[in-house]
Amino acid sequence: RTIYLDGAFVPAADARVSVMDRGFLFADGIYEVSAVLDGRLVDNDAHLARLDRSLAAIGIANPHAPEAWARLQAELVRRNGLAEGVVYIQVTRGAAERDFGYGPDLVPTVVMFTQPKTIVGAPVQASGARVVTRPDLRWARRDIKSVGLLAQVMAKREAAAAGAAEVFMVEDGFITEGGSSTVFVVTAAGALVTRPLSHAVLPGITRLAVMRLAAEAGLALDERAIAVDEAVAAREVFFTSASNFVVPVVAIDGSDIGDGRPGPHARRLMALYVALAR
Ligand code: PDD
Repeated sequence: RTIYLDGAFVPAADARVSVMDRGFLFADGIYEVSAVLDGRLVDNDAHLARLDRSLAAIGIANPHAPEAWARLQAELVRRNGLAEGVVYIQVTRGAAERDFGYGPDLVPTVVMFTQPKTIVGAPVQASGARVVTRPDLRWARRDIKSVGLLAQVMAKREAAAAGAAEVFMVEDGFITEGGSSTVFVVTAAGALVTRPLSHAVLPGITRLAVMRLAAEAGLALDERAIAVDEAVAAREVFFTSASNFVVPVVAIDGSDIGDGRPGPHARRLMALYVALAR
């Protein structure tokens, strides 16, 4: 596997980062994940725009213009022969003597790798996902795609132990988002509901694409917070992310959603998104 590290394409075994890197010591960095389908990046302009926004939010100068990022991503996809999966980008503030403060001369560490993954036709599309809820223990700027993911790691570990494919994070009785996804419900009246953007959630790129597709398909959209009991009683629930697109939810905390099988809206929106990506 070839890795992109600080300006060079290198074999994975040669991709080394300093233990003094602030990403390692402080989680002082951000990341981005774009899907690859048929060897092409999906919705990538929007992912690169969010990368720029995350970098600006923590005061790291973006090392590349979007066109340059896209060329590097495409070259990595080509070198790794990736047909379907994801491209991961990480930018940290760089290596320095450990100190909370930092000077102006740090050089950001830039890492990119690919991961093969079946997204279209993945088993979870047919089976649907069982999810569990957990308290949202994250910080107050979840709109920044920070590499500090300990709360999600802990919540997802608990979810996996409970046999669940994803965790829904809960704050004040309302779902913020999935551990690594955006949550949608379909109401009895057939409206699509998802939480509005704020510092409480990541502005999902798949979220926006799915909302546009739903609007084109004539579905009513409602951006508001969803209470856990509303989701459990909803006609349909699904979650979205670059790494899975649209995943139907069949149970929350052991309670079946609808008839306990993947719902038609999730299936349709998945098909529409795949058609758009192709
Ligand atoms: N995660 N919310 C959170 C907390 C996420 O981590 C993600 C994505 C999303 C969905 O965003 P998008 O549709 O832009 O992928 C929402 C990526 C895939 C990850 O951490 O691997």
